[in-house]
Amino acid sequence: MTGIVKRFGDVVANDSADLELAAGEIHALVGENGAGKSTLMSVLYGLIAPDSGEIRVEGRPVTFRSPVDAVAAGMGMVHQAFRLFPSMTVAENVVYRAETRGTAGLLDRRAAVRAVQELSERYGLRVDPRARVRNLSVGVLQRVEILKALHREAQVLILDEPTAVLTPQETRLLFDVLRGLREAGRTVVIVTHKLGEVLELSDKVTVLRDGRTVARLVTAETDGAEIARHMTGRAVDLEGHYVAGAPGRPALHVEGLTVGPPTGRPVVDGVSLSVRAGEIVGIAGVAGNGQVELLEAIAGLRAARSGSVRIGDHRLDGLSAGRRREAGVAYVPEDRAATGSAVAASVTDNLAIGFHRRPPLRRGWRLDGGAMRSHARQIIEHFDIKVSSPSVPAGTLSGGNLQKLVVGREMAHDAPVLLVDQPTRGVDIGAIENIHARLRGYRDAGHAVLLASAELGELMALADRLLVMFGGRVVADLARGEATEENVGLAMAGLAATATARDTAS
Ligand SMILES: Nc1ncnc2c1ncn2[C@@H]1O[C@H](COP(=O)(O)OP(=O)(O)OP(=O)(O)O)[C@@H](O)[C@H]1O
Ligand SMILES: [Mg+2]
Repeated sequence: MTGIVKRFGDVVANDSADLELAAGEIHALVGENGAGKSTLMSVLYGLIAPDSGEIRVEGRPVTFRSPVDAVAAGMGMVHQAFRLFPSMTVAENVVYRAETRGTAGLLDRRAAVRAVQELSERYGLRVDPRARVRNLSVGVLQRVEILKALHREAQVLILDEPTAVLTPQETRLLFDVLRGLREAGRTVVIVTHKLGEVLELSDKVTVLRDGRTVARLVTAETDGAEIARHMTGRAVDLEGHYVAGAPGRPALHVEGLTVGPPTGRPVVDGVSLSVRAGEIVGIAGVAGNGQVELLEAIAGLRAARSGSVRIGDHRLDGLSAGRRREAGVAYVPEDRAATGSAVAASVTDNLAIGFHRRPPLRRGWRLDGGAMRSHARQIIEHFDIKVSSPSVPAGTLSGGNLQKLVVGREMAHDAPVLLVDQPTRGVDIGAIENIHARLRGYRDAGHAVLLASAELGELMALADRLLVMFGGRVVADLARGEATEENVGLAMAGLAATATARDTAS
């Protein structure tokens, strides 16, 4: 790809970007939020037509009018929001619209199953071809997307932030698969914000900044600091250092909270915890051990079977999410697009939500447009959200910038209790520094923060106390000094040394 230019109105998403990919390599594409990575990949997959620039495949200039053209030229893309049919089987999804059809023009199911089996064995992509897609975990869905691309004989496989939603174990499996593809002479392009992954997996690195290619590096000859410098144009602190807080009185109390279907296994099983004002309590755990449901139940988005939630002396049980918000709970959900924002609404409207029922945004019966805009401007500035104008739909923001919008809006509530789930998912390294500093500042202003994160490094950099969840229970409750990667890791695997969690509710 040479000199690719793509404008969206006033925004120059790609500003003469170059990318050269060789057969048999894993190529990392990196850059800050809004640098133009996803746009460049959409151009390569025929989803977006560039304003100018050239794509050549094996020396021949090509024009992709749609993904159909790109697929024919050997491109494959693993979408982050998976595009699969939930009620169909894995095999049906993989071969759908491909030529494996029986004489009656119907899908030849047996041939499809065979094709999937063959591919999954060849590349170590473990899936059951007969499983219904609706029942699969994210990691497996991603494997199905990869199989789909391979079935279309993709020579170049594009993955845009594939590990953002994977557990560490699933990430290991994915990397093995990608290395296998490299062995087989294919090309893998991976977009990621995790420099550790870049260094571990890739052969070459292309860095985009403000839509332009600013560096092409050989991974073995560079390091994280150099890559970060190219991305940001400055030196970045990659470590994230813990700074102790000064906790005060208990603010959030959760007692015996149980969530789940009326009969059968609860997803949150009798959890008790408390968070003090001026304290960040971290929740570690392998994804799917009840962390999401715990925060949703506290926020009032999920009914509890039993147990209670209090802020100070104020009982929240039975209150709606809206009432809990008024009582002082703000919430950053894990999924910024589906739950955290309304992608079709403007950035200004998205930032006003939750503030719209009271002054200054509300004036009598109407909303004050000027106040809404200045409210939005402030959050955009504090969180350095890259957006051409606050009136564009939130859905046009890059992934990381949408994440900053949700975090910024919820922190602006200045609520005594803040629940945060994966606050820096998809966010670039500079913005992680900023969000971490702001979370510490929020705590130091005397608020209680309950933070769930899949990044152990993030928890270590922020949490004053660390809880570990396993099977819906809190299986470890560790003071700052007690938490090590080792004992946290053991507890996450269900092997807590201190098997009985202390009841910290007071
Ligand atoms: N459909 C669109 N309409 C308007 N602007 C867009 C559209 N798609 C992307 N942009 C803008 O183009 C710029 C580049 O966005 P892109 O999604 O390519 O960034 P990115 O490097 O993938 O960022 P991230 O790391 O946050 O995912 C951003 O400023 C974004 O707001
Ligand atoms: Mg992106």
